[in-house]
Amino acid sequence: KKRIAVMTSGGDAPGMCAVVRAVVRAGIYYDCEVYGCYEGYSGLVQGGDLLRKMDWDDVRGWLSLGGTLIGTARCMEFKERWGRLKAAKNMVLRGIDALVVCGGDGSLTGADLFRSEWPSLLEELVATGELSAEQTAKYRHLTIVGLVGSIDNDMASTDNTIGAYSSLERICEMVDYIDSTAASHSRAFVVEVMGRHCGWLGLMAGISCGADAIFIPERPPSAEGWREELKKVCLRHREKGRRKTTVIVAEGALDDELQPITSQQVKDCLVEIGLDTRITTLGHVQRGGSAVAFDRMLATMQGVDAVRAVLESTPDTPSPMIGIVDGKIVRQPLMEAVKLTKSVATAIAAKKFDEAMGLRDSTFKESYANFLDISKHDDGSQ
Ligand code: F6P
Repeated sequence: KKRIAVMTSGGDAPGMCAVVRAVVRAGIYYDCEVYGCYEGYSGLVQGGDLLRKMDWDDVRGWLSLGGTLIGTARCMEFKERWGRLKAAKNMVLRGIDALVVCGGDGSLTGADLFRSEWPSLLEELVATGELSAEQTAKYRHLTIVGLVGSIDNDMASTDNTIGAYSSLERICEMVDYIDSTAASHSRAFVVEVMGRHCGWLGLMAGISCGADAIFIPERPPSAEGWREELKKVCLRHREKGRRKTTVIVAEGALDDELQPITSQQVKDCLVEIGLDTRITTLGHVQRGGSAVAFDRMLATMQGVDAVRAVLESTPDTPSPMIGIVDGKIVRQPLMEAVKLTKSVATAIAAKKFDEAMGLRDSTFKESYANFLDISKHDDGSQ
């Protein structure tokens, strides 16, 4: 029987519980045994109760839950070779030779590194007497399958990451709340949203909530002109009769000199044109709470495909990442997707912003173009 361990790693995202549920149940359906690896990579390193078998009933009710019930953590030990040796030993002792990791690009890179080191880790464990040659003989090859769980939608080669739409939904709900008080007082609000180095949440929230302006890292405005431009747009909307002003700022927003654009700077501009302005930083409410239908569906379909990918993997095929492109569940070489994701940062650093947009994915690029078009004919209404 194939033994698969499933883990969630990095920042939690709504839909991670649904992933674990899908892997456990699809695993059982395909006659495998599934182990829950608790607290991210710490579960592998520490073993014991943090690496334990899961049954069908253990994941009952997990489909809609937010967060991750098997925990997630930043594991420093796994970054060290001795930590990975302990992890390999724990896996061999339990007969586990496949790992399904749901996390961001850092967690998935760690998994792929572990796979490439696996034969040498086993050799070292035998050489140091931690395991016998007979114990390791059956476990020559480690299978890794990646699923992307991240509210930021920040992975290239997939249209959506698990959790992004739940987070977007939450942001829209919050902005709707803010809008009613803003319009009552005729106030301006600067709403800061998450997304670290990726502006997808900011962009989509801006479109979905009819914001006056959006600041995201991939499309930085001119360092010299953004303040005046912002004031002009917001004043024009006011003159057309809008009673509220909403500006969305992604936490990683930059200008074209790569200097951060902060919510406070944006607020200062709005105050200068006479608007009574407040800043709301949405923070972790964006990451918690239950998963929207799309994320439940995505997590379930991808979790099932992850088990299939484990069963179909060979020692020669690169580790796959399960993605979704044009509505279809697809498998991509994990490290190629990670490399493309990293080149977004490189393109931004080289001030090649169009390239950065293109590298992220086509959906992102097209949505942005559409938005620009809309804003050109904007009459200030929502
Ligand atoms: O990557 C997910 C994310 O929520 C980012 O949007 C945000 O910058 C970061 O994690 C916050 O991390 P932490 O929860 O460690 O503060």
